[in-house]
Amino acid sequence: MKLTVLHKVGIFTLSMLIATFSMANAKEAKSIDELVAMFDDKKCAECHEQIYSEWQASWHAKAINSSLKGMRNFIAVGLAKEWDTPLTKAEVLKCLDCHAPAVNYASEELAVEIGNLIVTAFEKKGSPAGSQAAEELAKLNVGCYSCHNIKATSIAPGLRGKPEKGVMYGPNGEDGDDFHESIESVDISTSAFCMQCHGVYHAPDGETIQCNTLSGSYRHGYLAAGGSKTCQECHLNKGHLFPGGHDLDTVKEGLGFNLEIAKYNHLPGQIEGVKNPKGWVPSAVITAFVENKAGHRIPDG
Ligand code: HEC
Ligand code: HEC
Ligand code: HEC
Ligand code: HEC
Ligand code: HEC
Repeated sequence: MKLTVLHKVGIFTLSMLIATFSMANAKEAKSIDELVAMFDDKKCAECHEQIYSEWQASWHAKAINSSLKGMRNFIAVGLAKEWDTPLTKAEVLKCLDCHAPAVNYASEELAVEIGNLIVTAFEKKGSPAGSQAAEELAKLNVGCYSCHNIKATSIAPGLRGKPEKGVMYGPNGEDGDDFHESIESVDISTSAFCMQCHGVYHAPDGETIQCNTLSGSYRHGYLAAGGSKTCQECHLNKGHLFPGGHDLDTVKEGLGFNLEIAKYNHLPGQIEGVKNPKGWVPSAVITAFVENKAGHRIPDG
């Protein structure tokens, strides 16, 4: 009797293990093309043409290649030389969980391969091998799925669970013809949604990465002083272009400039040789006020 129960428990555990193993396998891509096919943003262009072209011109669309130097240093200098730590998926995700969230769905081997491509793209820049690596990496970025699916539930994972496959999380929950279902997401319109990437990263192994610190000043400077706008209210004014410090209009919007000029007569009657009959030098005190009107410190980084 006892033996049978144990036996059943054994079989049950074994089948659980098999189920977990095949689930893990099912959602892990083994090549970049397989990964891109799982989250193919090009398909969105068919129906959301304008949003797609705005996004293509945004910094979100080139989030690995624009940051190659820093990432290569992390992998080839930090991990390899200073900390003597092997390159693993967990290490690669310390950068790419924000710069290319789809990599969460890459196999261990593919994630390491992507890490090596980053080193090649930077170190062999200009050579055929370097250009080929950069071309591969350009397929990975902060894409449509990154925000509308992969990261859509992660500011409240306990409450919302994992994102549903193929479903778009958006502000209104309107389905996309026959192509996709949508789920209304309150989260995506909140600053906290942006702050998960524009803030400090807490890796599963406990390490924290402070790639950018802008969320801290948003919370403790701007909101604390009575600011009330969300990131979206200031940064979606040009749609999915998400303009920031690289956009002159946005930089101008962020800077208030005022001059206060007070005219006065310098040392009246006390300067010898001054031709002015009253003996003073016409002068002015000019005070310049440069105001930061952004919702956080500028510049960031
Ligand atoms: C919490 C999410 C997050 C993580 C983790 C992260 N980054 Fe970033 N990174 C960002 C964001 C957001 C920006 C854009 C910041 C800005 O413009 O204010 C950025 C910008 C950068 C830039 C500057 C890019 C430019 O255009 O000037 C470099 C370089 C960079 N990251 C490298 C890294 C490296 C290397 C790692 C891993 C060690 C890493 N990041 C990890 C979110 C992250
Ligand atoms: C960096 C995150 C981010 C990326 C990347 C992103 N979106 Fe969005 N998207 C948002 C946010 C935030 C909203 C607006 C929520 C709100 O209204 O407050 C939004 C709104 C939308 C909407 C509904 C409102 C509208 O403007 O029609 C559509 C459709 C949409 N996005 C499609 C896309 C497509 C297609 C892509 C890729 C080309 C994309 N998004 C990439 C964050 C993102
Ligand atoms: C066959 C056409 C079609 C394709 C392809 C398509 N969509 Fe949509 N999508 C729509 C329509 C129609 C709506 C509802 C009206 C609107 O918001 O534009 C919609 C709505 C949305 C919304 C807003 C949902 C909400 O909250 O109301 C998001 C976000 C979105 N789509 C993202 C995407 C992304 C990302 C892709 C690519 C993976 C994509 N769509 C591909 C047709 C499409
Ligand atoms: C999945 C992570 C992620 C999410 C979510 C995200 N971002 Fe970003 N964002 C990045 C990264 C990474 C960069 C840097 C890309 C680069 O330098 O190429 C960036 C760049 C930007 C920039 C351009 C900065 C510049 O230098 O011009 C702005 C503005 C921005 N994000 C605003 C937002 C806002 C607003 C939201 C929320 C609606 C948001 N982001 C959500 C990762 C993210
Ligand atoms: C009150 C409007 C406002 C709010 C709220 C706001 N921003 Fe900005 N943000 C700006 C302006 C204006 C700039 C351009 C200033 C500059 O770089 O000189 C900017 C710049 C940026 C940049 C580029 C920084 C750089 O150094 O180039 C990023 C990234 C960014 N914002 C993200 C965010 C995120 C994420 C939030 C929410 C946590 C947010 N912003 C809230 C107005 C705002």
